[in-house]
Amino acid sequence: MSKLQRVRGTRDMMPDENLAFRFVEGLAYNNASKFGFGEIETPVFEFSEVFHRTLGETSDVVHKETYTFVDRSGDSLTLRPEGTAGIARSFISEGLAQNIPLKLYYSGPMFRHERPQKGRYRQFNQIGVEVLGLETPMADVEVINLAWNILGDLGLHQKCKLEINTLGDAASRNSYRDVLVEFFSKHKEQLSEDSRMRLEKNPLRILDSKDEGDRKLIAQAPEAKNYLTPEAQDFFARVLKGLDALGIPYEINPRLVRGLDYYCHSVFEFTTTELGAQGTLLAGGRYDSLIESMGGPKTAGVGWAAGIERLCEMLAPEKWQPSPGKIAIIGADERGEIESHKLANELRQQNLPIENILSGNVGKKMKKANKSQCTWAIIIGSAEIDQNQVTIKNLVSGEQEIVPRGDLAKKLT
Ligand code: HAM
Repeated sequence: MSKLQRVRGTRDMMPDENLAFRFVEGLAYNNASKFGFGEIETPVFEFSEVFHRTLGETSDVVHKETYTFVDRSGDSLTLRPEGTAGIARSFISEGLAQNIPLKLYYSGPMFRHERPQKGRYRQFNQIGVEVLGLETPMADVEVINLAWNILGDLGLHQKCKLEINTLGDAASRNSYRDVLVEFFSKHKEQLSEDSRMRLEKNPLRILDSKDEGDRKLIAQAPEAKNYLTPEAQDFFARVLKGLDALGIPYEINPRLVRGLDYYCHSVFEFTTTELGAQGTLLAGGRYDSLIESMGGPKTAGVGWAAGIERLCEMLAPEKWQPSPGKIAIIGADERGEIESHKLANELRQQNLPIENILSGNVGKKMKKANKSQCTWAIIIGSAEIDQNQVTIKNLVSGEQEIVPRGDLAKKLT
């Protein structure tokens, strides 16, 4: 039997990585709560049509990247490649329409069979938010504002750039679509095979192509802004005004269309130049016809998602590393080792971070305490137990003293 390996594109998260990961998740959750968002958790797998009907058959995510399988009941299921479609499904199947507007936050694993590279995995994690039931551009401003607050708390304002564009409403998209079809049809023989397929099914998606040849043509293609209805122009202007008022810097990128089919009006991405090819940290937009296209009531939506792994990669370690201050407890003999668990629990009850050093003689245990970057060591053995005392050593200064057990917590805080 061959050696057991991780599946390509998956990761084992080690304790340090998880510290950073939890820091990002906690910070995002707290910010979302402060904005009045409640947390939603939907399943990691859904009936395949939840994604196939919504994300667009021409999008790479559906066309090439989903993990789809038939389960033992004969149902076709798909591991979720993103969170929005599952939330839209939940909105419909759980009858959430009566609760609009809904402001939802989520966090969890997503699955895409992409070519793995740094910052791109087959199982990765997103934090994300969705606002459902609000047609006003102020909802777009709100979700971008929340993203900006989170990125600010992570210390990333200087390291990323907000790119924004509008795809307009249905009428704008239709006229833009027509001119794109006309333009690309004239140069059909220069298009990649994928883009030729898109030309028939969803020409807007050609603008998202990564193919070198396609990119040259795209640079000359007509821009969406010239085909916007007055209403769509006004909508976009109000989003930008909101961002201006908040002092959130942005750059209008007329080629930004995003990889999923459900968008209209605002689309945006926070990008960085620090992560090589996988430079999109956070991305989203408005999707006013998604829920209706899935058979639900017409309900507007706007939101974004960010890759947690990419955010972690960007963080300065001092952001997530715990501040020193851990306390080691060292049983000096057999009685001390047994008692150490009880004493450690008493101190943990008072919110002190106690690491019980479990093996070795006192000298070895002391070395381990130093290595774990503890600031104090508590030593307890038979002599201390009999006197109801403990020895404490300051591992920074090296000073040692004996203190009554009852005074210990006070001494260490
Ligand atoms: P997305 O652009 O497909 O949008 O993904 C959002 C973010 O997830 C990306 O910007 C990136 O940070 C991260 N990401 C995507 N794929 C990978 C991967 N293979 N490995 C690591 N990170 C990855 C969506 O998922 C939409 N649901 C966003 C949205 C919410 N739009 C409206 N509401």
